[in-house]
Amino acid sequence: MEQDIPPPPPHVLIFPIPALGHVNSMLKLAELLSVAGLRITFLNSEYNHDRLTRHADVCSRYTHRFPGFQFKTITDGLPMDHPRVGHKFDEVLHSVKSVTPPLLKQMLIDDIKPPVDCIISDGFMSFAVDVANELGIPIIYFRTISACAFWAYFCVRDIIDAGELPIKGKEDMDRLIKNVPGMETFLRCRDLPSFCRAEDPLDRNIQLFMSETRSSPRAQGLILNTFDDLEGPILSLIRTHCPNIYTIGPLQAHLKTRVPSGMQSTNGFWEVDRSCMAWLDKQPPKTVIYVSYGSITMLSREDVMELWHGLVDSNKRFLWVVRPDLISDRDGDQSQIPEKLVVGTKERGYMVGWAPQEEVLEHQAVSGFLTHSGWNSTLESVVAGQPMICWPFFADQQVNSRFVGQVWKLGLDMKDHVYDRKVVEKTVNDLMVEKREEFVESTDRMSKLAWKSVSDGGSSSCNLDRLIEDIRSMSV
Ligand code: UDX
Repeated sequence: MEQDIPPPPPHVLIFPIPALGHVNSMLKLAELLSVAGLRITFLNSEYNHDRLTRHADVCSRYTHRFPGFQFKTITDGLPMDHPRVGHKFDEVLHSVKSVTPPLLKQMLIDDIKPPVDCIISDGFMSFAVDVANELGIPIIYFRTISACAFWAYFCVRDIIDAGELPIKGKEDMDRLIKNVPGMETFLRCRDLPSFCRAEDPLDRNIQLFMSETRSSPRAQGLILNTFDDLEGPILSLIRTHCPNIYTIGPLQAHLKTRVPSGMQSTNGFWEVDRSCMAWLDKQPPKTVIYVSYGSITMLSREDVMELWHGLVDSNKRFLWVVRPDLISDRDGDQSQIPEKLVVGTKERGYMVGWAPQEEVLEHQAVSGFLTHSGWNSTLESVVAGQPMICWPFFADQQVNSRFVGQVWKLGLDMKDHVYDRKVVEKTVNDLMVEKREEFVESTDRMSKLAWKSVSDGGSSSCNLDRLIEDIRSMSV
């Protein structure tokens, strides 16, 4: 009697833009799909692949665990020693867009085996849709930003057409924007994505972000790392353009429910300094503020010093991530660190180059997060129920911080406040003491809803199952 041979698992190509915040989220998705039995090829930039393998060799942890998992690399078009953080990151985006299309096509034809059944590409690479269509491969987008930031990006063209841009100087910053549906009552000029601050609405960054986002309906579906209880009303508006949305976040919580013994805290291009966990273990419950600016934001030395003074003057305990490339002008003022800062840090503070952030946020000693409002950090804070001080820098962070402060009531939005030690001191005290009560209920509530969404029968869990089924149906 002939035995039924099970069909081979669907093969999915996952392709992030080369930024850590994106690579992290895409790796989490890749792990969730691998656990469901799908075969994954993860396409990394050569530069990022080198960084992921250099320290903890993040990549081999996936390939050892999942036999069908492979990494492939592609150039981002820049020399390996070209800077890629701070404002230099824009150059990466423009470069990827110009060099990648023929390379991707060639790889899909000649190099990636077995043939790919479905592409999940970063929703910032419309060229991937062109390549996929040419080769007849279904493609789904994954936008790693919040739904609210996505929607603001999506509406930038309407804002420009309505004459609401450019912003006319500092005094114009509090003007309400009328052409982002769902946000008319609270979205000010200063809350628009940072690229909207350009004097010329035809600036190449505005054009890039706008056109890439507007291309989203061309993909067969749109995956978002968010959950319905957090961003339901905005998701309904996005659905009028992109009907097939899979909200499957928060991804890190989703991983914990589906892969309890899985890998955690793979969030890095730097070696994780776990000594901060031992330091946290020694601190009293709910006394520490965690300070971190994600993977690409840079601060001037002057701002770092003001922040440092403010943290020490606040008299609160603090754990601060000072990435090796955090300071933009390292060679600037080399004057001695004031004794007060050295002593204050020794008594109440701890600094690391890179922390296991998700674990830190869930540590019982931590009770607040000073963040740049990158979406991964924001979601990780939501999951851990930590109130936030938002000090956004660029892109989506301006929108995220407005939602944290004004809509979700999960923290204080400090956007456009200059780094001044007195302001830092007061804000830290506000979050940790004076205004703490304002946030406790909403942070607890949202954390519970986040976990509910990824548990059995929750909205994100059902959407992930639907995504897996849809991919399976593409391979038959
Ligand atoms: C970028 C953009 O800046 C951000 O606005 C966008 O939403 C995503 O892409 P990034 O600046 O790195 O990301 O910020 P974020 O999205 O917050 O991601 C940072 C990641 O690094 C988080 O997952 C965080 O857990 C991790 N991290 C950060 C660590 O694991 N350790 C650290 O010490 C610091």
